[in-house]
Amino acid sequence: MCGIVGYVGNKEVTPVLINGLKKLEYRGYDSAGIAVFGADSKEIVVRKAKGALKFLEEKITKEVIKESQGIHLGIGHTRWATHGEPSDLNAHPHTNESGSIVVVHNGIVENYAKLKSYLQAKGVVFRSQTDTEVIAHLINYFYESTKDIFKAVLETLHRLEGSYALGVLCKDYPDRLIAARKESPLIVGLGNGENLIASDVPAVLEYTRDVYFLNQKEVAVLYTDHVDLFTEDGDKVVREPYHVDWDLSSAEKGGYAHFMLKEIHEQPKALTDTLRPRLVHENGKATDIKFDEFDFGDEWKNAERVVITACGTAYHAGVVGKYAFEKFARIPVEVDVASEFRYRNPILKKNDIFIVISQSGETADTLAALRLAKAAGAKVIAITNCVGSTVSREADEVIYTWAGPEIAVASTKAYTTQLMCLYLLALKMGQIRGELKKDEYEKLLAQIEMIPQKAQEIMENQAEIQKFASQQFNKSKIFYIGRQFDSATSLESALKLKEVSYMHCEAFSAGELKHGPIALVDKDTLVIAIATEPELYEKLASNIVEVKSRGAVTMAITLDKQGAFKESCNTVITLPECEPALASMISVIPAQLFAYYCSVQRGNDPDKPRNLAKSVTVE
Ligand code: M6R
Repeated sequence: MCGIVGYVGNKEVTPVLINGLKKLEYRGYDSAGIAVFGADSKEIVVRKAKGALKFLEEKITKEVIKESQGIHLGIGHTRWATHGEPSDLNAHPHTNESGSIVVVHNGIVENYAKLKSYLQAKGVVFRSQTDTEVIAHLINYFYESTKDIFKAVLETLHRLEGSYALGVLCKDYPDRLIAARKESPLIVGLGNGENLIASDVPAVLEYTRDVYFLNQKEVAVLYTDHVDLFTEDGDKVVREPYHVDWDLSSAEKGGYAHFMLKEIHEQPKALTDTLRPRLVHENGKATDIKFDEFDFGDEWKNAERVVITACGTAYHAGVVGKYAFEKFARIPVEVDVASEFRYRNPILKKNDIFIVISQSGETADTLAALRLAKAAGAKVIAITNCVGSTVSREADEVIYTWAGPEIAVASTKAYTTQLMCLYLLALKMGQIRGELKKDEYEKLLAQIEMIPQKAQEIMENQAEIQKFASQQFNKSKIFYIGRQFDSATSLESALKLKEVSYMHCEAFSAGELKHGPIALVDKDTLVIAIATEPELYEKLASNIVEVKSRGAVTMAITLDKQGAFKESCNTVITLPECEPALASMISVIPAQLFAYYCSVQRGNDPDKPRNLAKSVTVE
């Protein structure tokens, strides 16, 4: 998704903008651009380039950008194309005809065609194919009559349908930067003699830890020494900034070749951080689960159904959650991808517990599902990794995954910590509904406490997976199979491999093989079975024999130590001993590592897979 940065302060602005854009590269982009006030503060210089940031940097030489000697002011953008192909022309910033009003935008202006026709009829000439350009012309249109840039921006915002995070500069106002947001994320960083805007926290952390997460339809005006917040109706807003307490180093690679590998390795810590504050201990023994964020009221006891909605990896976490709630709390669960849920006129009941899961807390479809559920009167619980995200602010209750910033586009530590939160909810619900007796409950708590250590043990044995990847990275068809919890893990394992290796990979419930997919199996096929449920080992082993006899190479990722898969599998990855019903939090890790190593073997950049964005803030 697009990334926005903006700066007003005493430092030379161009390096600040480029530096900020680099911190947002993980969001995915296909072109980039900046706009800064020139030497005499009377003109705004725009430079844009298709492709990587280095191409933009090549266009920014001291000769072309001579910065102001006083206040340094500028905006920058990385674009992820929606309207119009990736090109220099379509890259942001966009301007009005004279170049006096300059805009960067993240989101989609849904009514841009109508606005464009209106402006064209008035003689305005458009240069790009983007929806964003209409914003610059519209601001100019209102500025001509009001001669007040703030009013002109507000008038424009009132006419935009869809989503936006915006940064706006005006030639006549060389002392300020105007920002606004609806749906798409935008933060304001409050520095000392400098203030910034950005799509995400890592872009401002070098300058400040105090930020405003702009609310829906809020507008910010930034000067060097202060920031004013307003509603879109122009009313002043006063509130305390949020202090970010995580470190910039946690958003950097720290010696690993890629963020993805670093984040896979961070899972033991992320799982501990997510689990520890929620376990109650008595005499050194875990006896209960509590969430500081909210109470388990009667609605949890009396609920008749749990409904879970999310996208991508978060949706797969929801599928594992379904098995966990049904097993431990004996409550029916429905899981749906948010983009389907929102359009199928879903049936929501008063006694439903509605859970949305989103790493970023900004996914457009997940947000739409959340709003739909709230409008239907459901109580919404959000599981998210991003404090201050839109999901966290709009849900009734928030449970944070304490995974730390996840930079790689492919989600790893956010997924396993989402699972941790879901397991904790399911276990607690099982206890309060009387489905789990004290002994059983405490036994499970003791087991869950060991999960981070088990995750660590897998990291220490990754060489075997790396070797297997080095032998299999050229396979043309890969299938993950599993049953029950493991069929959910298969979905996520297949997605991970697709995302970063670009190998064709699918997941099937093992029992479905015979109903069609087995027709695809031949000697170019790799079948990976996930097997953590002892009572189903035998059935799964016969599925593997079926594919092996048709020429497939086979691997099992299993808890089994008795050799159930020795005959049927070419390679067996044995997981550390753990309670099978909790194993989903660790059985996915070898699959994450396999995806990572296949990606590297194939010469891909696992951190920035092609065509993907970290945070999907448009439909
Ligand atoms: O930020 P969210 O968890 O809402 O994102 C949902 C999906 O876009 C995300 O999980 C996506 O599938 C990732 N690329 C998975 O690695």
